[in-house]
Amino acid sequence: MPAHEMPAQRKLLILPGDGIGPEVVRQVRRVIDWLSRRRGFAFVIEERPVGGAAIDLDGVPLSDATLEAALAADAVLLGAVGGPKWDGMPFDRRPEAGLLRLRRELALFANLRPAIVIDALVDASPLKPELVRALDLMIVRELTGGVYFGEPRGIADLGDGERRAVNTQVYTSSEVRRVARVAFELAARRGKRVCSVEKANVMETGVLWREEVTRVHADEFPALELTHMYADNCAMQLVRNPRQFDVIVTDNLFGDMLSDEAAMLTGSLGMLPSASLGAPDAAGRRRALYEPVHGSAPDIAGRDIANPIATLLSFTMMLRYSFDLAAEADAIDAAVHTVLKGGMRTADIMSPGMARCSTTVMGDAILRALDKQAG
Ligand code: IPM
Ligand code: MG
Repeated sequence: MPAHEMPAQRKLLILPGDGIGPEVVRQVRRVIDWLSRRRGFAFVIEERPVGGAAIDLDGVPLSDATLEAALAADAVLLGAVGGPKWDGMPFDRRPEAGLLRLRRELALFANLRPAIVIDALVDASPLKPELVRALDLMIVRELTGGVYFGEPRGIADLGDGERRAVNTQVYTSSEVRRVARVAFELAARRGKRVCSVEKANVMETGVLWREEVTRVHADEFPALELTHMYADNCAMQLVRNPRQFDVIVTDNLFGDMLSDEAAMLTGSLGMLPSASLGAPDAAGRRRALYEPVHGSAPDIAGRDIANPIATLLSFTMMLRYSFDLAAEADAIDAAVHTVLKGGMRTADIMSPGMARCSTTVMGDAILRALDKQAG
């Protein structure tokens, strides 16, 4: 077959990580196998340790070889990092440092965290059903700047038992503008509304953030609606009336907080996927990392009770954003909805009258639903 008719090679790096990471990623591998077996979509897959697993193996949370593999891949799928075993280590040698380095080296400045309430799960939300039914909002979190990366940082000994800790919140206009653009581009394909969130009432970075977002809006996206909100008010509005939001764009720290909060609106952190994207290259391709919003949940690790859906939905985001396989992504999302509608629940989304199942059994059910859909 001529070269241009050959199926594209899709290079995928999988980093299962720590805690429940490996067990939820395992279910995604089964779905990937299904895609290649039943639909002929081959992925060239490499799997490597990251986080605590990499510390135990190589002494560092992200080895240079793994970073190289990530740079060479079309997309990276990550489970989760961290755990009590590595808690006492200095920041730069902790599991989390591996993830932060990966985000920084791949320049993944835009983190997309959709919070969608699936009808079957409306009762799993801690909010009243009438507040969250059909909720569909997207948080765009700046991911490579702000206080998580700012210098100077550190803990200094002042003597006499006194110490001083410093972190620096810092943003440049181009950092704000590029992530604002991602938010506007997404809004243009959804509800046409962006809410920009900061603390311009007390922080200079907030003032700059607001001015730059306003400028990008006026210059490039005047047809969309832009509003501004202080981060504390946004935290409150998210539980008061979450459906007022379409796309929220905010900095690294506030985005970290608000996305956990938004995730819980959907009933469980176990349901929330994310995509982290870099700038498009000349061919329009972006570096990308996909990971569930939940962490490594060491308390339930290894017990086959974690919810694999957030990681699976992260994979379907990959199919959409990195591989242009929207139909396959739709099919997998639909299979997840079918299974939930049928009453299967992992522990985190369990509610009265539903059937509690394990991680593996949830994977089995999703594969069965895929088989059924495919006929
Ligand atoms: C997240 C996590 C990470 C973060 C940790 C694990 C470093 O909380 O992705 O939200 O703070 O960004
Ligand atoms: Mg977080």
